[in-house]
Amino acid sequence: MTVLKFNDSVFDQFPVLKTERLILREIIPSDADIIFKNYSDQEVMKYFGRELYKDISEAEKKILDTGTDFREKNGIRWAVCFRENNVMIGSGGIWRIQKDHLRGEIGYELSKEFWGNGIMTEALKEIVKFGFEKMNLHSIEANLDPENTGSVRLLEKLGFIREGYFAESYYFNGKFTDTGTYSLLNKDHE
Ligand SMILES: CC(C)(COP(=O)(O)OP(=O)(O)OC[C@H]1O[C@@H](n2cnc3c(N)ncnc32)[C@H](O)[C@@H]1OP(=O)(O)O)[C@@H](O)C(=O)NCCC(=O)NCCS
Repeated sequence: MTVLKFNDSVFDQFPVLKTERLILREIIPSDADIIFKNYSDQEVMKYFGRELYKDISEAEKKILDTGTDFREKNGIRWAVCFRENNVMIGSGGIWRIQKDHLRGEIGYELSKEFWGNGIMTEALKEIVKFGFEKMNLHSIEANLDPENTGSVRLLEKLGFIREGYFAESYYFNGKFTDTGTYSLLNKDHE
Protein backbone atom coordinates (compact mmCIF):
# COMPACT_ATOMS: atom_id res chain seq x y z
CA MET A 1 0.00 0.00 0.00
CA THR A 2 1.38 3.41 -0.93
CA VAL A 3 0.77 6.03 1.73
CA LEU A 4 0.41 9.47 0.19
CA LYS A 5 1.63 12.44 2.16
CA PHE A 6 1.27 16.20 1.97
CA ASN A 7 4.61 17.77 1.07
CA ASP A 8 5.39 20.18 3.91
CA SER A 9 8.67 21.21 2.29
CA VAL A 10 6.68 23.62 0.05
CA PHE A 11 6.76 25.93 3.08
CA ASP A 12 10.57 25.90 3.47
CA GLN A 13 10.99 28.91 1.23
CA PHE A 14 8.31 31.03 -0.43
CA PRO A 15 7.76 29.46 -3.87
CA VAL A 16 7.86 32.10 -6.62
CA LEU A 17 5.96 30.99 -9.74
CA LYS A 18 6.20 32.36 -13.25
CA THR A 19 3.88 32.22 -16.25
CA GLU A 20 4.13 33.81 -19.67
CA ARG A 21 2.90 37.23 -18.49
CA LEU A 22 2.92 36.95 -14.71
CA ILE A 23 5.03 36.48 -11.66
CA LEU A 24 3.42 35.07 -8.52
CA ARG A 25 5.39 36.14 -5.48
CA GLU A 26 5.07 36.62 -1.74
CA ILE A 27 2.73 39.40 -0.58
CA ILE A 28 4.82 42.13 1.06
CA PRO A 29 3.95 45.17 3.27
CA SER A 30 4.11 47.60 0.34
CA ASP A 31 1.22 45.68 -1.30
CA ALA A 32 -1.18 47.08 1.32
CA ASP A 33 -2.47 49.82 -1.03
CA ILE A 34 -3.57 47.42 -3.76
CA ILE A 35 -5.07 44.98 -1.26
CA PHE A 36 -7.00 47.84 0.30
CA LYS A 37 -8.11 49.00 -3.17
CA ASN A 38 -9.47 45.56 -4.10
CA TYR A 39 -11.02 44.66 -0.75
CA SER A 40 -12.77 48.02 -0.51
CA ASP A 41 -14.11 47.81 -4.08
CA GLN A 42 -17.79 46.93 -4.16
CA GLU A 43 -17.54 45.25 -7.58
CA VAL A 44 -14.53 43.09 -6.71
CA MET A 45 -16.11 42.06 -3.40
CA LYS A 46 -19.65 41.68 -4.71
CA TYR A 47 -19.79 37.91 -4.13
CA PHE A 48 -17.45 37.61 -1.15
CA GLY A 49 -20.18 38.05 1.44
CA ARG A 50 -18.16 40.13 3.83
CA GLU A 51 -17.72 43.75 4.86
CA LEU A 52 -15.70 45.99 2.57
CA TYR A 53 -12.40 47.20 4.01
CA LYS A 54 -12.73 50.71 5.39
CA ASP A 55 -9.18 51.32 6.49
CA ILE A 56 -5.71 50.47 5.18
CA SER A 57 -4.93 48.84 8.55
CA GLU A 58 -7.23 45.97 7.53
CA ALA A 59 -5.05 45.33 4.47
CA GLU A 60 -1.92 45.49 6.63
CA LYS A 61 -3.44 42.93 8.99
CA LYS A 62 -4.34 40.69 6.05
CA ILE A 63 -0.71 40.74 4.90
CA LEU A 64 0.45 39.76 8.39
CA ASP A 65 -2.15 36.98 8.60
CA THR A 66 -1.13 35.67 5.17
CA GLY A 67 2.51 35.56 6.32
CA THR A 68 1.52 33.73 9.50
CA ASP A 69 -0.50 31.22 7.51
CA PHE A 70 2.57 30.47 5.40
CA ARG A 71 4.98 30.25 8.37
CA GLU A 72 2.57 27.95 10.18
CA LYS A 73 2.35 25.80 7.03
CA ASN A 74 -1.39 26.24 6.65
CA GLY A 75 -1.66 27.87 3.24
CA ILE A 76 -0.03 29.95 0.51
CA ARG A 77 -1.39 33.16 -1.00
CA TRP A 78 0.52 34.62 -3.92
CA ALA A 79 0.59 38.23 -5.11
CA VAL A 80 -0.33 38.09 -8.81
CA CYS A 81 1.89 40.61 -10.65
CA PHE A 82 2.81 41.48 -14.21
CA ARG A 83 6.29 40.20 -14.96
CA GLU A 84 7.51 43.49 -16.37
CA ASN A 85 6.94 45.61 -13.25
CA ASN A 86 6.33 43.18 -10.35
CA VAL A 87 3.34 45.30 -9.28
CA MET A 88 0.55 43.38 -7.58
CA ILE A 89 -2.82 43.36 -9.39
CA GLY A 90 -4.56 40.61 -7.46
CA SER A 91 -3.94 37.49 -5.45
CA GLY A 92 -4.64 33.80 -5.47
CA GLY A 93 -3.84 30.90 -3.24
CA ILE A 94 -4.54 27.58 -1.64
CA TRP A 95 -5.78 27.58 1.94
CA ARG A 96 -7.96 25.55 4.34
CA ILE A 97 -5.63 22.66 3.58
CA GLN A 98 -6.69 19.32 5.02
CA LYS A 99 -3.30 17.64 4.98
CA ASP A 100 -4.61 14.24 6.07
CA HIS A 101 -6.93 14.20 3.08
CA LEU A 102 -4.59 15.93 0.62
CA ARG A 103 -7.27 18.51 -0.14
CA GLY A 104 -7.06 22.29 -0.30
CA GLU A 105 -9.29 25.20 -1.27
CA ILE A 106 -8.52 27.93 -3.79
CA GLY A 107 -9.37 31.61 -3.51
CA TYR A 108 -8.59 34.54 -5.81
CA GLU A 109 -9.38 38.12 -6.77
CA LEU A 110 -8.15 40.59 -9.35
CA SER A 111 -8.38 44.39 -9.74
CA LYS A 112 -11.35 45.04 -12.00
CA GLU A 113 -9.43 47.01 -14.64
CA PHE A 114 -7.66 43.75 -15.57
CA TRP A 115 -10.71 41.47 -15.78
CA GLY A 116 -11.41 39.55 -18.96
CA ASN A 117 -7.83 39.24 -20.21
CA GLY A 118 -7.23 35.65 -19.15
CA ILE A 119 -5.03 36.73 -16.25
CA MET A 120 -6.64 34.66 -13.53
CA THR A 121 -6.86 31.64 -15.83
CA GLU A 122 -3.10 31.94 -16.35
CA ALA A 123 -2.39 32.43 -12.62
CA LEU A 124 -4.68 29.67 -11.36
CA LYS A 125 -3.36 27.13 -13.86
CA GLU A 126 0.04 27.55 -12.23
CA ILE A 127 -1.37 27.57 -8.68
CA VAL A 128 -3.42 24.42 -9.30
CA LYS A 129 -0.38 22.75 -10.87
CA PHE A 130 1.65 23.69 -7.80
CA GLY A 131 -1.07 22.24 -5.54
CA PHE A 132 -1.04 18.91 -7.33
CA GLU A 133 2.61 18.56 -8.29
CA LYS A 134 4.40 20.23 -5.36
CA MET A 135 2.01 20.09 -2.39
CA ASN A 136 0.95 16.63 -3.50
CA LEU A 137 -2.75 17.40 -3.16
CA HIS A 138 -5.27 14.86 -4.35
CA SER A 139 -8.13 17.33 -4.81
CA ILE A 140 -8.72 21.06 -4.86
CA GLU A 141 -12.01 22.66 -3.89
CA ALA A 142 -13.63 26.03 -4.59
CA ASN A 143 -16.72 27.49 -2.95
CA LEU A 144 -18.59 30.35 -4.50
CA ASP A 145 -21.84 32.16 -5.04
CA PRO A 146 -23.30 30.55 -8.21
CA GLU A 147 -24.31 34.01 -9.40
CA ASN A 148 -20.63 34.88 -9.73
CA THR A 149 -20.66 33.90 -13.41
CA GLY A 150 -17.10 35.08 -14.12
CA SER A 151 -15.73 32.89 -11.36
CA VAL A 152 -17.91 29.92 -12.38
CA ARG A 153 -16.64 30.19 -15.97
CA LEU A 154 -13.06 30.47 -14.76
CA LEU A 155 -13.36 27.29 -12.67
CA GLU A 156 -15.04 25.38 -15.50
CA LYS A 157 -12.29 26.44 -17.89
CA LEU A 158 -9.78 24.95 -15.46
CA GLY A 159 -11.68 21.65 -15.41
CA PHE A 160 -13.42 22.06 -12.05
CA ILE A 161 -16.75 20.26 -11.73
CA ARG A 162 -19.68 21.33 -9.59
CA GLU A 163 -20.18 18.61 -7.02
CA GLY A 164 -22.47 20.33 -4.58
CA TYR A 165 -25.09 23.00 -4.36
CA PHE A 166 -26.22 24.33 -1.04
CA ALA A 167 -29.31 26.50 -1.12
CA GLU A 168 -29.41 29.59 1.07
CA SER A 169 -26.37 28.36 2.97
CA TYR A 170 -24.58 31.68 3.49
CA TYR A 171 -25.98 34.58 5.48
CA PHE A 172 -24.64 38.09 5.12
CA ASN A 173 -26.14 41.54 5.35
CA GLY A 174 -29.63 40.24 6.02
CA LYS A 175 -29.62 37.98 2.96
CA PHE A 176 -29.13 34.25 2.37
CA THR A 177 -27.20 33.21 -0.74
CA ASP A 178 -26.52 29.81 -2.29
CA THR A 179 -23.12 28.12 -2.42
CA GLY A 180 -21.70 26.06 -5.29
CA THR A 181 -18.92 23.66 -4.35
CA TYR A 182 -16.54 22.80 -7.16
CA SER A 183 -13.61 20.45 -7.21
CA LEU A 184 -10.83 19.12 -9.38
CA LEU A 185 -9.05 15.82 -8.84
CA ASN A 186 -5.34 15.43 -9.43
CA LYS A 187 -5.95 12.67 -11.97
CA ASP A 188 -8.29 14.90 -14.00
CA HIS A 189 -5.87 17.78 -14.10
CA GLU A 190 -4.15 18.23 -17.46
C1 LIG B 1 -13.44 36.02 -11.15
C2 LIG B 1 -12.18 36.76 -11.62
C3 LIG B 1 -11.03 36.37 -10.73
C4 LIG B 1 -11.90 36.36 -13.05
O1 LIG B 1 -10.62 36.86 -13.43
P1 LIG B 1 -10.26 37.19 -14.95
O2 LIG B 1 -8.78 37.33 -15.06
O3 LIG B 1 -11.11 38.30 -15.41
O4 LIG B 1 -10.71 35.82 -15.64
P2 LIG B 1 -10.30 35.35 -17.10
O5 LIG B 1 -10.11 36.54 -17.98
O6 LIG B 1 -9.17 34.38 -16.97
O7 LIG B 1 -11.63 34.64 -17.58
C5 LIG B 1 -11.93 33.30 -17.40
C6 LIG B 1 -13.21 32.97 -18.16
O8 LIG B 1 -14.31 33.58 -17.49
C7 LIG B 1 -14.99 34.45 -18.36
N1 LIG B 1 -15.41 35.60 -17.55
C8 LIG B 1 -14.62 36.43 -16.82
N2 LIG B 1 -15.38 37.34 -16.20
C9 LIG B 1 -16.66 37.11 -16.58
C10 LIG B 1 -17.91 37.69 -16.26
N3 LIG B 1 -17.99 38.73 -15.43
N4 LIG B 1 -19.03 37.17 -16.81
C11 LIG B 1 -18.97 36.10 -17.63
N5 LIG B 1 -17.80 35.48 -17.96
C12 LIG B 1 -16.68 35.99 -17.45
C13 LIG B 1 -14.00 34.83 -19.41
O9 LIG B 1 -14.63 35.26 -20.61
C14 LIG B 1 -13.24 33.54 -19.57
O10 LIG B 1 -13.95 32.60 -20.34
P3 LIG B 1 -13.66 32.40 -21.93
O11 LIG B 1 -12.19 32.11 -22.06
O12 LIG B 1 -14.55 31.30 -22.31
O13 LIG B 1 -14.01 33.72 -22.57
C15 LIG B 1 -12.40 38.31 -11.55
O14 LIG B 1 -13.55 38.64 -12.27
C16 LIG B 1 -12.50 38.82 -10.15
O15 LIG B 1 -11.52 39.15 -9.50
N6 LIG B 1 -13.74 38.92 -9.63
C17 LIG B 1 -13.95 39.46 -8.29
C18 LIG B 1 -13.41 38.57 -7.20
C19 LIG B 1 -14.08 37.22 -7.16
O16 LIG B 1 -15.28 37.12 -7.39
N7 LIG B 1 -13.29 36.19 -6.86
C20 LIG B 1 -13.77 34.85 -6.80
C21 LIG B 1 -14.46 34.54 -5.53
S1 LIG B 1 -15.06 32.88 -5.57
